Amino acid sequence: MDKVNIAIDGPAGAGKSTVARQLAGRLSYLYVDTGAMYRALTWKALQEDLPLHDEEQLTQLLERIKLELGGNEEAPRVYVNDAEVTEGVRTPEVTAAVSEVSAHEAVRRMMAEKQRMLAANRRAVLDGRDIGSHVLPDAELKVFLTASVDERAKRRHEENVEKGISSDFEEIKQAISRRDEQDANRTIAPLVKARDAYEIDTTNQQVEDVVAEIESLLRQLG
Ligand code: C5P
Repeated sequence: MDKVNIAIDGPAGAGKSTVARQLAGRLSYLYVDTGAMYRALTWKALQEDLPLHDEEQLTQLLERIKLELGGNEEAPRVYVNDAEVTEGVRTPEVTAAVSEVSAHEAVRRMMAEKQRMLAANRRAVLDGRDIGSHVLPDAELKVFLTASVDERAKRRHEENVEKGISSDFEEIKQAISRRDEQDANRTIAPLVKARDAYEIDTTNQQVEDVVAEIESLLRQLG
């Protein structure tokens, strides 16, 4: 089987995971949510009350735990030591803490290695912040998704309301801006558009149209 890796990067709430999942489903590629990996480590670190600035304790924790992405692109699941934490990794506590955990160089090195192994010699769509720029610089197709911060906050807010989760638009907007700033300003593999990535602004676009645009880019690769 030919290796085809598709990297989908961008800031929080730009629609990466929705687009990446649909794309993977349509192409029958493996879907890898790399943000879920950082979230799972953060979830476990919070459970164990570890200091999040302590790189060594975090890397030891990552060595010790079994971290798995399962399910499928319609219903991806996250497991830590065989316990399902799919919902747990999406709580506001984990969301607020994950950028601190993901800023550590040794943590990123270990995660990137796991991600490269998942993508090796196969057809896979990976979504994250540094996939095209750092983890898979040779990915066949790189896409950088953006959207205005208002639009991104609005989507997250509407998602919450739909799920019956209490939600405040201004708070979400602030949290998203804070996370973007932390992710874009960290020293190691920050959130950045790879030079050879196609940028797609999803602000006024439907998911289906974005997916179709990426499929068309893929066809152009031949
Ligand atoms: O994509 P998601 O919002 O779930 O990612 C959660 C966090 O994980 C990001 O805010 C970022 O700090 C970190 N992350 C990262 N590199 C990736 C994917 C996610 O640093 N490739």
